[in-house]
Amino acid sequence: MRKIPSGVYGLNRLLDGGVNENTVTVVIGSSGAGKTTLAAQFLRRGLEAGDDGVFITLDEAPRQILQEVRLMGWETVDDFLDEGSLVFVDAGGKQFSQFIQKELAEFVDEWAGHNARIVIDPLTPVLWSVKEKYEQRELVSFLLRQTRRIGTVLCTLEEHGVAGDLSTQDVIIPMYLADNVVHLRYASHESPERRDLKIIKCRSSKHSRSWHPYGIMKGAGLYVRRPIDAAQPAEHAADLEARLDARLGELPPEARAKFGPVVLENVRRAVRTLAEQEFSDIDPDELLDLILMEYEHG
Ligand SMILES: Nc1ncnc2c1ncn2[C@@H]1O[C@H](COP(=O)(O)OP(=O)(O)O)[C@@H](O)[C@H]1O
Ligand SMILES: [Mg+2]
Repeated sequence: MRKIPSGVYGLNRLLDGGVNENTVTVVIGSSGAGKTTLAAQFLRRGLEAGDDGVFITLDEAPRQILQEVRLMGWETVDDFLDEGSLVFVDAGGKQFSQFIQKELAEFVDEWAGHNARIVIDPLTPVLWSVKEKYEQRELVSFLLRQTRRIGTVLCTLEEHGVAGDLSTQDVIIPMYLADNVVHLRYASHESPERRDLKIIKCRSSKHSRSWHPYGIMKGAGLYVRRPIDAAQPAEHAADLEARLDARLGELPPEARAKFGPVVLENVRRAVRTLAEQEFSDIDPDELLDLILMEYEHG
């Protein structure tokens, strides 16, 4: 199976290189954990590589999601929409079980032969649309089987109640059916608030077993750190673009060749945005490392 890069800086090394193609990844987290942000990064990475992206939204209107991803630093999102490689399916307010049984098959046929990344954000209302456990299982299983036929799938799941308890029914079924599970643990009630993530499973891969602190920053989106707790002093890095150029210059030619014009343009844009931010919990060079790693091995 071929690994594809996640688009989340620092995450691939936890997943033994990325997620396997045509698999299903479930991302679990409470409100504000960064699920939608992560999902958008996953699509963006595929689009940059020339693949298609389908964003099936069940909660927020596409317009709202677009606004959020632009605010997070993805300024070129409209270009992909205009050229038709990025498509939104607004499934909010629909009868999900009907939608899945009738419209989905049509949709999958239309996209047959494509190599897409598909996001379902969030999957939770699909489970709630039917009552019985076996119905939930059948419905989700059918949905995931169909969508993975046209590409690599990432679903988000809402975590309710005590953070870290993954034993509720609406979490267990999708976790069981997924190939990969990422848990975003967001302690919003703590001060300072704390975010860390763990790979719960990643089929046929030697994945990380640790909790890794992660952060969210305009320009980078979600990024994942090594499992260390040492806090960094706040720092600005106005020269970040120069640092990037220096790093690119040091790369061996094979690695440098991975940075095509589109990727390079996007990395530059991200780095320019990052240069204006305050680095409070990650060293700028560490973040540059993560960004370069994403593309060097992609
Ligand atoms: N410019 C920003 N810098 C840092 N964090 C941000 C920024 N914009 C949004 N966030 C964070 O991103 C989170 C929202 O992520 P989102 O993907 O919508 O979460 P979810 O889908 O899990 O509810 C919020 O917790 C917010 O703190
Ligand atoms: Mg969300």
